[in-house]
Amino acid sequence: MTDVLAALQLDHLDRLERCYDDILDAHGYAGLLIYSGHPARHYGDDQEASFCSYGHFQHWTGQAGWPHCWLLIRPGKRPVCHLHAPDDFWHLPTSLPDQAWVEHCEVVTGRFETPPKPEVDGPLAVIGDVSHETARALKAKLNPPTLLAALDEIRVCKSEYEVACLLDANRLAARGHLAARDAFETGGAELDIHLAYLQASRQRESELPYGNIVGLGQHAAVLHYQHYDPSTPVSRRSLLVDAGARYRGYCADITRTWTGPDTDPLFATLITAMETLQQRLIADLRPGLDFVELHARMHRELADLLVAHEVVTGSAEAALANGVTRAFCPHGLGHLLGVQVHDVGGQVSGDGHPLPPPPEHPALRLTRELEAGMVVTIEPGLYFIPLLLAPLRQEAASHDVNWPLVERLAPHGGIRIEDNIRITAQGAENLTPRIE
Ligand code: GLY
Ligand code: MN
Ligand code: MN
Repeated sequence: MTDVLAALQLDHLDRLERCYDDILDAHGYAGLLIYSGHPARHYGDDQEASFCSYGHFQHWTGQAGWPHCWLLIRPGKRPVCHLHAPDDFWHLPTSLPDQAWVEHCEVVTGRFETPPKPEVDGPLAVIGDVSHETARALKAKLNPPTLLAALDEIRVCKSEYEVACLLDANRLAARGHLAARDAFETGGAELDIHLAYLQASRQRESELPYGNIVGLGQHAAVLHYQHYDPSTPVSRRSLLVDAGARYRGYCADITRTWTGPDTDPLFATLITAMETLQQRLIADLRPGLDFVELHARMHRELADLLVAHEVVTGSAEAALANGVTRAFCPHGLGHLLGVQVHDVGGQVSGDGHPLPPPPEHPALRLTRELEAGMVVTIEPGLYFIPLLLAPLRQEAASHDVNWPLVERLAPHGGIRIEDNIRITAQGAENLTPRIE
């Protein structure tokens, strides 16, 4: 543990304690029990699914893989971490990391499949994946919505400690992306590329913040493509890798699109144009910017790009008005990032009003104004998705699309470029290293 990171973590905990004290007071609770959660068991089996600790538990501890742990927060008192680490000769019990929060908290080690009995002088709340029966036994309010909303809100802007962790997660992921590109260049199949990524970023698959998306050719058009083809395709036209890493719970979420030996030169040009578009959007990030407006700007720039490269033959204005750009990019420009890859608080204003996405952009996960301290992804995309292009062919807008060119490019699947950006008082800082 570096002293710098330890000091930053202690500052982070101080801020958390202050915020939690205020929030618990305001909501009338004398104590809060945060449950880390537990893995689901496969039906009729003794095997468990992969597990990730609850976000609010990670906010304090950064431990993404600690089941059956309970954190007790009481205003003015030291946090108590009930660490589930029973004597077990089948498994290695969880041990404490060398991190500053461990000294900051009181740690009680034991068996906690059932919750500890907290000593609290007044009303208690419990949050997490807890049954009503357990909450009743604790005499605690279960997941009170207004309390959860207030706790989500303090995760929206990141402390210096959290940014340091996000930066380290990005460094790890960047190593993986370089290895993935190299594995593609040397003829690797999707499975080889995925394994090269894991090895270089020093992660086992169950530790990833989300399943690696490794798409060769047309698979790059499947936004969350989930398979790893073990054989190399005959034509190696393109590779899209959307993959991250965790550092102390904090997630990187990076995408790169690479050319291969069989890439159409126009597709290579489109990748460069999308990289430039992404950098232009990043250059404009600043506090006060409405992310819905930035998303709309991404669509305007995408329309210009499609016209400039003759994928769209009509005007950029018509392409926008007719929803043509939405068929080429159906996802949102970005989202908040933290201990969850799609972090909480993206669709609510700072004072608690819901901010649903515009009806024509339902997949936009971040709909609020940017603030210094937020960490967001910027991930414009351009895809050839048969399911979305087919209906476009039936519409009036069909005349505006250069279908022969679309058919030429479609075997490349698509392009996404994604970086992780911290909003600062002055503008923005890119946490994603150059990957080249
Ligand atoms: N990796 C999922 C996303 O980019 O949102
Ligand atoms: Mn993302
Ligand atoms: Mn991603």
